[in-house]
Amino acid sequence: MTTRTGYSLIQIALHWLILVLIAGAWLLGDQMHGYEKLPATAALPLHGILGLSVFFLMILRLLLRLWLGAPPPPASDPKWQRRAATLTHWAIYALAILGPWAGGFAFYLRLDIAADLHEVLINLLIIAILAHTAAALYHQFVLKDNLLARMRPGGSRV
Ligand code: HEM
Ligand code: HEM
Repeated sequence: MTTRTGYSLIQIALHWLILVLIAGAWLLGDQMHGYEKLPATAALPLHGILGLSVFFLMILRLLLRLWLGAPPPPASDPKWQRRAATLTHWAIYALAILGPWAGGFAFYLRLDIAADLHEVLINLLIIAILAHTAAALYHQFVLKDNLLARMRPGGSRV
């Protein structure tokens, strides 16, 4: 993996597109309970399509990340924060790839255990995303190091 000074446009576009797709799938999640007995409403296929899109786009993003690399965490961060950021990013990749899989197993194979696993993995994903967002906002508004520019097209680099 190489070290870079910024994210590519495609990585930035995927970052924000996936945010919207996860929010959509999450908002429809509650309507999925009891999906085996429910009449076919629009929520069911829509939830699956949004979730599967997250899965495929995260695979694409993972390949891009392994191929293109990423800028290192800000050097001004204490070591534990840099470690925490790296760990959170990889946890998000793992959870956003495995979570939809569990949903697929629940939906297509009617496996109760997969439904439970889906719930656990998605809840962990949401927790990781909330921690990630809080850290990004802390950088932007408390440390004022303009970290968000890394995820803006043509933005300056931290
Ligand atoms: C990142 C993508 C996804 C997110 C954020 C998401 C989110 C959720 C949420 C919030 C719930 C409600 C259960 C809970 O409290 O956790 C749920 C349930 C469910 N989801 Fe997903 N989901 C995703 C992907 C998928 C995919 C790809 C499928 C299938 C093709 C799927 C199938 C289901 C099913 C069958 C349930 C009902 C499980 C049950 O009965 O408890 N999900 N999802
Ligand atoms: C409003 C919400 C969000 C904000 C403000 C935000 C902000 C950022 C920023 C500033 C970076 C660059 C950090 C760095 O290079 O050290 C980043 C990277 C990253 N973000 Fe977010 N993010 C948000 C939501 C999300 C969501 C929903 C995901 C879920 C997939 C996500 C996944 C990632 C990952 C995996 C990285 C590491 C870089 C990569 O491999 O592409 N972020 N985010």
